[in-house]
Amino acid sequence: MRTATFRVFRFNPDTDRETRYQDYEIPVAKGMTILEALMYIKDNIDSTLSFRAFCRSGICGSCALNINGKPRLACKTQIENVLKETPSFITVEPLAGFTVVKDLIVDIEGKTEAMKRFNLWLEEKEPPENSEFTVPPEEAKKYEKETDCILCLACCSVCEALKENVPFSGPFAFVRTYRFLSDSREKEETKRKRIEIALNASVWTCLQCQKCVAACPKNIAPADDIQKVRRTAVKSGRKESPGARKLSHYLNWIYATGQINRLFLPSDVYGDDKAAKEFIKMCREHGIEVWGIPHLPDGFLALRDLIIRALTEEGDIEAIDFKKIRKIDEKIESLLKGDEK
Ligand code: FES
Repeated sequence: MRTATFRVFRFNPDTDRETRYQDYEIPVAKGMTILEALMYIKDNIDSTLSFRAFCRSGICGSCALNINGKPRLACKTQIENVLKETPSFITVEPLAGFTVVKDLIVDIEGKTEAMKRFNLWLEEKEPPENSEFTVPPEEAKKYEKETDCILCLACCSVCEALKENVPFSGPFAFVRTYRFLSDSREKEETKRKRIEIALNASVWTCLQCQKCVAACPKNIAPADDIQKVRRTAVKSGRKESPGARKLSHYLNWIYATGQINRLFLPSDVYGDDKAAKEFIKMCREHGIEVWGIPHLPDGFLALRDLIIRALTEEGDIEAIDFKKIRKIDEKIESLLKGDEK
């Protein structure tokens, strides 16, 4: 039978002064998972090895580990696939960014705390009399993916905003927030509370690095959900945060001129445009021309309005689906390359 070497992270705070790695060689059967390998080690080689697992079916999220440096579910990751990446040995470590309790187990107290703080369960309105709520299939589709979140915390382990030690709760909390914000059964008052909680939890801090999208074992896109929560907050009138003001700067300037005005960006975001205006005046007094409102290319406004009309029914610039714009860009690019007639 084929064998594989596992290089496993070890640390027992009661006895170890430093972290270490231990190698285990085990027989590998076809279809065997990383979780089964860890169980083999515990049952046959080293009973002191500690790790977390429960459902063994990709449902409970408790077995998320860093396998060859990537967050994955140990119960859904087959050894033969990982060996294709590194034939000599497989590294198994706890999820990055968390305090290690013992070996592969990390402290997830923050997750429980965030779930309570974010009120991550549905608060239903009164159902219609003598009836119950039904969710139309088109609505269910909107948050189908988000409902699949198993709270494995893989998204948090790669989150760049969390690494900055800012008061940000991690992507999963916003995935659930978006899921409940989109649910027609929920009380309006609770939705307003959710927006407030998301703003207090620094929803605008996310850098949109997209690492959570790559890490999610359920193919959810937490970064997109964070954008949707931001959009809902702005639509409900909460435009006071620097992130929202930055967005309006981009929208207003691009809408009006097709370009971003970097000179006014700081003052638009952080208030007080006196400094920017004085800086421009000072430059001009010294004969230095600074970038002002750019000249609009001929036909720009007509083209802009045409695109907006095509993309949104109501002509609301905030309702533009930028994924569609990317598709238009791709089409133009392929036309320019002569790929399409
Ligand atoms: S053991 Fe439940 S998701 Fe892996």
